[in-house]
Amino acid sequence: MSKEKIRYFIRTFGCQMNESDSERIAGLLGGTGAVKAERPEEADWIIVNTCAVREKSEEKLFSYLGRLAQLKKKKAVRIAVVGCVAQLRGWELLQKKAAIDFVLGPDNEAELVALVQGDAAEKYVSTSWSKAWHETSPNLIRRDSPVSGYVAVMEGCDNFCAYCIVPYTRGREKYRPLRSILEEVRDLARKGYREVQLLGQNVNSYQDPDSGAPFRGLLKDVAAVEGVEWIRFLTSHPKNFRPEIAEAMAEIGKVCRQLHLPLQSGSNAVLKRMRRGYTKEGYLDIVSRLRNLMPGISLSTDIIVGFPGETDLDFEETIEVLRRIRFGNIFSFRYSPRPSAAASRLEDSISKPTKQRRLEEVQRLQKTIQLEDHSRLVGQTMRVLCLGRGHKTPHLFSGRNEGNQVVNFRSDEDPTGRFVKVRITGFGPFSLIGEKTS
Ligand code: 5AD
Ligand code: SF4
Repeated sequence: MSKEKIRYFIRTFGCQMNESDSERIAGLLGGTGAVKAERPEEADWIIVNTCAVREKSEEKLFSYLGRLAQLKKKKAVRIAVVGCVAQLRGWELLQKKAAIDFVLGPDNEAELVALVQGDAAEKYVSTSWSKAWHETSPNLIRRDSPVSGYVAVMEGCDNFCAYCIVPYTRGREKYRPLRSILEEVRDLARKGYREVQLLGQNVNSYQDPDSGAPFRGLLKDVAAVEGVEWIRFLTSHPKNFRPEIAEAMAEIGKVCRQLHLPLQSGSNAVLKRMRRGYTKEGYLDIVSRLRNLMPGISLSTDIIVGFPGETDLDFEETIEVLRRIRFGNIFSFRYSPRPSAAASRLEDSISKPTKQRRLEEVQRLQKTIQLEDHSRLVGQTMRVLCLGRGHKTPHLFSGRNEGNQVVNFRSDEDPTGRFVKVRITGFGPFSLIGEKTS
């Protein structure tokens, strides 16, 4: 009699890199014959892919693990915690949460295959670093989107910004060989993917380990793959964003006129204490260069409020820069101290209510900017890549325009995976609404 198939459920917290890792883990588990479960209650294995970047990310994880512990009382299930919190906390996780069976850091996730196949009984922690890039056959990866594919090009970060835990969870920078990246992009193109998103914590510092070719060389080679029409990349660091990269973006038609470039603060004093390696003026220079080369380019950013010692004046400078640049989108956070990061040795001097007030002010301003900018788009027709039905609006289709804005639109037929023309008829602060015209 054949054994019943093992069912796995993956819950992913955090950034696109984690989403991409989860797609790889799903592929590796699928390769063992295991099948995906839609709900944790139906799974034999639950894999929790974790994020440690902010205190809140860890809090969310712990509350989720609490729920899994309840589930484990009712049914036999193995729980593996992987990703950044796994790397950071290691054995401590097993000690704190009895429900957890396995803890695997980002470089050790492939060990899940042996664990699942071997029906391991012992608890187990594996968080060793590896200098080599982990190859996964592109054919195996189980992607969530049939239209836009993540392709990791580097991992880790050597920048050691004072607030940031990433160098301690993802380790030093390592770069994926260009030939392996291109193999995955070609595989995506063959399968009908129209967009690739190149991922890494600090993509601009990419160098092909075989030839030494820089990031702009990678962009050119990816753009030469037939079938892929839009290329995006993240995350960029202003310190490593050399003029040649902006020029390459402008030259290579397939690279979307869109860039996520974390500013973090508009105050030079704060930027210095954050060890960001650029000034407000340097950042504004990059923005004007980008806008000269690519008029209409859509920019997004990350902002931290309440970094130790941030005065009202420092904060005002951030607000002033946000008013000046008018980003298309921002991700804003209250500072929280993270273990090992240099700033965790500074006093977390800004009170929670002050952080909250500053966060709300940033978000209020940004909402106003986005509403104003979106209102100007009504009546315009734009090219949109349809990604499928809207999650919250299943009667509409949803896609993104070149600037990475979400566009929800009406269409008589299902255009998923195609570029369509959409006429904008309405808007909210975070998305546009329209009708497909062709
Ligand atoms: N506190 C608050 N926000 C943080 N980020 C990173 N570390 C911290 C921290 N300790 C934010 C930064 C980064 C984004 C991914 O998360 O803005 O760009
Ligand atoms: Fe963290 Fe700075 Fe690296 Fe970004 S560049 S991952 S903020 S250390």
